Amino acid sequence: MKLWGGRFRKAEDQIMEEFNSSLDIDRRLYFEDITGSIAHVNMLTACEILTEDEGQKILDGLKSILSDIEDGRLKVEGDYEDIHSFVEVNLIERIGEVGKKLHTGRSRNDQTAVDTRMYTRKKAREVIDVLVTLKESLKKTADENPVIMPGYTHLQRAQVITFKHHLMAYYEMVSRDIKRVENALENMDENPLGCGALAGTTHDINREMTTKELGFSKAKANMMDGVSDRDYLIELSSAFAVLMMHLSRLSEELILWSSQEFDFIEIDDAYSTGSSIMPQKKNPDAAELIRGKTGRVYGALMSLLTVMKGLPLTYNKDMQEEKEIFFPALDNTISCVKIMSHMIETLKVKEESMKRAVKKGFLNATELADYLVKQGVPFRDAHGIVGNIVIYCENNEKGIEDLTVEELKTFSSDIGDDIYDYIDYENILKKGTKVELL
Ligand code: ARG
Repeated sequence: MKLWGGRFRKAEDQIMEEFNSSLDIDRRLYFEDITGSIAHVNMLTACEILTEDEGQKILDGLKSILSDIEDGRLKVEGDYEDIHSFVEVNLIERIGEVGKKLHTGRSRNDQTAVDTRMYTRKKAREVIDVLVTLKESLKKTADENPVIMPGYTHLQRAQVITFKHHLMAYYEMVSRDIKRVENALENMDENPLGCGALAGTTHDINREMTTKELGFSKAKANMMDGVSDRDYLIELSSAFAVLMMHLSRLSEELILWSSQEFDFIEIDDAYSTGSSIMPQKKNPDAAELIRGKTGRVYGALMSLLTVMKGLPLTYNKDMQEEKEIFFPALDNTISCVKIMSHMIETLKVKEESMKRAVKKGFLNATELADYLVKQGVPFRDAHGIVGNIVIYCENNEKGIEDLTVEELKTFSSDIGDDIYDYIDYENILKKGTKVELL
């Protein structure tokens, strides 16, 4: 079952075979491996390196392997070193001697490079799709809930905002996340197939042909870079790390908001779980898992950077580890974005509870200071005056808007009857947060 037995006098130790095998990880590349091989064979035939008849037999064999895998007749398993060995050995078993010509002018080094790149490209596009859906969910829930709520700094009530404004901040973040993935996709759009082991091949191959057939814009300019470049996995992991950081911040807010302490939202039952002992519990597990998985995606970025650090050119077996690191990060990113979309779309906003919180946080204090500024009081002095009013309110368990003008005037004679319009929460919102612009 080995592709390279010739120069060996002794069999590989079984423990080494298990250690070396990547089939468990790279079996998911079967489609790209076969598609890449088909493009390679088409090219070899067009360049007359294979005869028409040889090319056709190999193509038929590859296609039958692909359909057998897809229909479940052939399981991608067994004592194979990797997906490349699996396909080639199966091909030779099916079509005999001519199958041994498949690997002409090619190495597993450019093969794994092209397979992984094509698979990753497909999945990165899926990441963009789920991010676009998340943006839509955020926008929809935001539009449906232009309700008043406290905005925070230092997790202390700060100024009045709307839930819509808050959610649309995440919409902006996700828009940038999409750009980062698109940018990585653009950078990785180069075909490494044809770079061979590291120095190309003396066969007169046509790299433009496979480049076109496999949907790349250009062939890798430098063969050694072609087989060594894993930048795209790092760039994507970095984009995923940033987007997971955004999801994690949003998760944290959902967790806080759904607590009894905040009581601002209710996460749908479908994305919550209960407790095996405490019957009353409804836990925000989905948000917590997203927050937790963020750490794993960060870990993938650091692992990939570390695997590549100090590797001499060109291919080194270390690189096989990258798939084992990157694929789970990719899977987790996609499932987290999906779950977040569902959670956002189905959550219920507790409008009354948010309003109550607004009333309790002196969220119109800044606007009272601004009012004084309009009467000619320097801002720093206005700030001090309002600070004193806040202490007075705290002592009397009142909001600023509950004070009479007489009470207010004891702090500053510049305060007049028109003050209530200025410190009315809805009025502040209309002037300040420009909700209509979002
Ligand atoms: N399974 C290997 C990987 O994923 C394929 C390339 C092996 N090449 C080699 N010369 N051993 O990296």
